[in-house]
Amino acid sequence: MEARLQLRVQRYGWDRAAEHYERGWREPLFPAQDLLFKMGHLEPGFRVLDIACGTGLVALRAARFVAPHGRVIGVDISDQMVERANELAASSGLPNVSFYRMEAEQLDCVDDYFDVAYDSLGLMYVPDPGRAVEEMHRVIRPGGRAVTAVWGARNHCGWAEIFPIVDSRVKTEVCPLFFQLGTGNSLAELYRAVGFREVMSRRIQTTLHYRSASEALNAVFAGGPVALAYARFDEQTREAAHAEYLQSIEPYRKGTEYHIPGEFVVVGGRKGRKR
Ligand SMILES: C[S@@+](CC[C@H](N)C(=O)[O-])C[C@H]1O[C@@H](n2cnc3c(N)ncnc32)[C@H](O)[C@@H]1O
Repeated sequence: MEARLQLRVQRYGWDRAAEHYERGWREPLFPAQDLLFKMGHLEPGFRVLDIACGTGLVALRAARFVAPHGRVIGVDISDQMVERANELAASSGLPNVSFYRMEAEQLDCVDDYFDVAYDSLGLMYVPDPGRAVEEMHRVIRPGGRAVTAVWGARNHCGWAEIFPIVDSRVKTEVCPLFFQLGTGNSLAELYRAVGFREVMSRRIQTTLHYRSASEALNAVFAGGPVALAYARFDEQTREAAHAEYLQSIEPYRKGTEYHIPGEFVVVGGRKGRKR
């Protein structure tokens, strides 16, 4: 897909997903985010950048941790995500975090500034992930760290059929290279290629729990990366796509609940010190 089109699909798709996002993904993403924090070696007082921050799940948690002297900036391509994250920060009474609309490949930030940069489950959507990792490297200080989490291999993510199910009903593929970064050592290699040192990679298994079929459907269709295409489906197309997806996750149904397997890859690295 052409890069500009991909950016538009992401921007307006996640705008649609913003109000449904946390209901579908807040809990399932905890294990990846826990590991992200551990590998970032966060300390009180740090300056933190959260790229592709969504509603701020990572940024708000980091803001509590680095307070009162540390500061967190969250950036995302979607205006609605940024707006929601700023509302959540205000209602949580956190004065040390703010959110801005920005693209991961073009960070409007000075060089060598942040102690830690995170990207939690956002890099799969960026047209040129290598460029985005290079930007992370640029904006952290020498000795600082970057950590990125992505979904793992396709055959370890039980919800993966969502993409062919939607793609068979729309003109262009929604996320053509979605699982590429989570396969083999791709992400760690990107980190090394831009100059990160001490690159570490962890692959962890997880389970996505949904209490009902409607919760499972809401997460992937309305609250996820296919939200833009889904918003344009008529009622009949929606019903057919729902039925096909439920069929694909049938092996993970336990009574009325779904326990869907998933996998995350989390990679961290340190920026070398200047001589
Ligand atoms: C699955 S959400 C992850 C949100 C959050 N980091 C979390 O862990 O909950 C993916 C986010 O990536 C953002 N995104 C997609 N493409 C982007 C880009 N090129 N630049 C910045 N953000 C992007 C989307 O708007 C969306 O909020």
